[in-house]
Amino acid sequence: MLEEQQLFKRYKQLCREINYHNYRYHVLDDPVISDYEYDELLLKLRQIEEQHPDWISADSPTQRAGAGPSEKFEKVVHPAPILSLANAFSADDIRSWLERISKIDERVLHTNFVVEPKLDGLSVVLHYRDGLFVQGATRGNGEVGEDITANLRTIKTLPLRIPAKLNGLKPPPYIVVRGEAMIRIPDFEALNKRREESGLRTYVNPRNTAAGALRQLDPSLTAQIPLMIMIYQIITGEGDLPKTQVETIRFLRALGFPTPESKQADDLEDAIAICLQWTGKRESLDYEIDGMVIKINDLTIASDLGIVGKDPRGAIAYKFPAQEVTTNLLDIGVNVGRTGVLTPYAVLDPIEISGVTVKQATLHNFDYIREKDIRIGDRVRVKRAGDVIPYVIGPVTALRNGDEKIFEPPKTCPVCHQPVEHIQGEVAWYCVNAACPAQLIRNLEHFASQSALNIVGLGIKIVEQLVSSGLVNDAADLFTLTKKDLLKLDGFADKKAENIIAAIQNSKSQSLERLITALGIRGVGEVIASVLAARFEDLDDLAHASHDQLEIIEGIGPNIAQAIVDWFAQPRNQVLIEKFRKVGFWPKKELKSRHIALSTLSGNSFVITGTLAHFTRQEAKEYILKHGGKVTNSVSKKTNYLVAGENPGSKFQKAKELGISVIGEEELRKLAEG
Ligand code: IVH
Repeated sequence: MLEEQQLFKRYKQLCREINYHNYRYHVLDDPVISDYEYDELLLKLRQIEEQHPDWISADSPTQRAGAGPSEKFEKVVHPAPILSLANAFSADDIRSWLERISKIDERVLHTNFVVEPKLDGLSVVLHYRDGLFVQGATRGNGEVGEDITANLRTIKTLPLRIPAKLNGLKPPPYIVVRGEAMIRIPDFEALNKRREESGLRTYVNPRNTAAGALRQLDPSLTAQIPLMIMIYQIITGEGDLPKTQVETIRFLRALGFPTPESKQADDLEDAIAICLQWTGKRESLDYEIDGMVIKINDLTIASDLGIVGKDPRGAIAYKFPAQEVTTNLLDIGVNVGRTGVLTPYAVLDPIEISGVTVKQATLHNFDYIREKDIRIGDRVRVKRAGDVIPYVIGPVTALRNGDEKIFEPPKTCPVCHQPVEHIQGEVAWYCVNAACPAQLIRNLEHFASQSALNIVGLGIKIVEQLVSSGLVNDAADLFTLTKKDLLKLDGFADKKAENIIAAIQNSKSQSLERLITALGIRGVGEVIASVLAARFEDLDDLAHASHDQLEIIEGIGPNIAQAIVDWFAQPRNQVLIEKFRKVGFWPKKELKSRHIALSTLSGNSFVITGTLAHFTRQEAKEYILKHGGKVTNSVSKKTNYLVAGENPGSKFQKAKELGISVIGEEELRKLAEG
């Protein structure tokens, strides 16, 4: 009995401990234990829960995606109205706001303000009782929302329990807070990349994806979307609550909630200046904001001012200039990707959106064009936000004159003119002609890319030349290219030709893992390739693996297993492998993999900024993590390196000021490769 009691105590302690490490990792971006140690703790917890399912508590870290699907959402009456905000579009609008409210209460002329980013996500309301997250709801109509507790639990940055004694504070007995659920842009792009590789429909933008994920009746579907949350308001609560907005943010942060950046402004002009500064900063953020919120810091004054309709008088939203414009859709083109997937794109009358000229925008897929009824010749709304690829929102149907043409998806590949196919269960259309030059070009580009064989200098332009001249018909042909061959092509002189040949020949010493990545099998990226390379002797061995043998390997599901089997079954690919063997490119299984236990960067903290040439920021982050380094979002004294790409922005300045080493991608690689 005593043993049981002790085990129960241990169980509760494990819950607390793991929740704390989740907070360090996801909220503070500053973990204090390794992933390995974390997994060990989680394993212990799971073992106890298996033995004692009746002990499983609501704040157990295993319960984030624990609930089954529901029929519909229950209604939740909010404990106080969940208000909206009045908008201002210029500095003068903001000044008029103060003038208006000063007529109601003169105190506002001598008070200070808080300025926060206006987060572009979905407003949610969270209830905590004795520190435990007990209910979460959508805003709904402001009076009544929907109970989405199970979905909200899947958000890793949402505290399931406000840890007692965290930062010396006791959690209030009851507190209801409000925040915004969102998806960070790099997470959104990585999600879409994974979906594209698996032939699934890509998501249109982070905001709608976040909203859709939270409205899933099955929380396990929500859990697949990398949501995050930031909390900025206390709706109600018991106990001593902050009396100003500055203290509110500080208090929320101390309780362990992720909060937005918030700046105090001494007067309104100061607040306006902060709004304008952020207009420039917006582009470099890794989440979307659509404006700034100016709040009267003193919450008593703010609440005394009352509300107009649903808008509190004590705060105002300054909306940024639109990142959305309208222009003419001149034509619809179709790209053929590496896996043969066809993707439509809009050819636009060039138009400037927040400082960048946009000539093309994605149309996602053929269903999207049909669902939105987008026609050639339409006036269309186009959005470009942050780092998200510009996309067409939809047509302005009121401006149609009848000359618009409905787009018919092509029946044949726009490049090789072979019939296209639809794979059952997928939305995408594919060109299945393995010899399609468009696919060959994309495949070779991938083959030579940094994450695959890293053949420096062999970019898309040269690849196109090699394919169109007929010098290269598959990846193995690269290895038999001669300097003489290259000199026949436009723009090649001695030195350039020699360099490329040398880079190609050098790449023959690359690992099995990189070669498997380079093959471009659907669903097999760097991580899966490393798992395969650690298990199979060489390409031959992998080629002979059965579907069943592959499926039982951790991280490989039935779809990837099938994709691997299919790939090796194609005669064209069998020829390719034989050619690799013939030219002497035949790496063997390695015990030490790039993705397993390489800790060349351990003990170092990195911040990434600007546009990198080869990595997306997400990829760079993963790369650093895989090598044992740490990545944080902001530069501080604890930062060891700033990895800077093009247009680095304010982080660069800060790193310079603090004397932190600024490195590029190449240097990062060198560090990581040890
Ligand atoms: S304060 C009484 N602060 O913007 C205060 N709202 O257009 C009302 N929002 O529905 C909200 N970031 O969902 C506040 N830092 C922030 C915000 C924020 C985003 C959203 C909120 C609201 C909408 C109003």
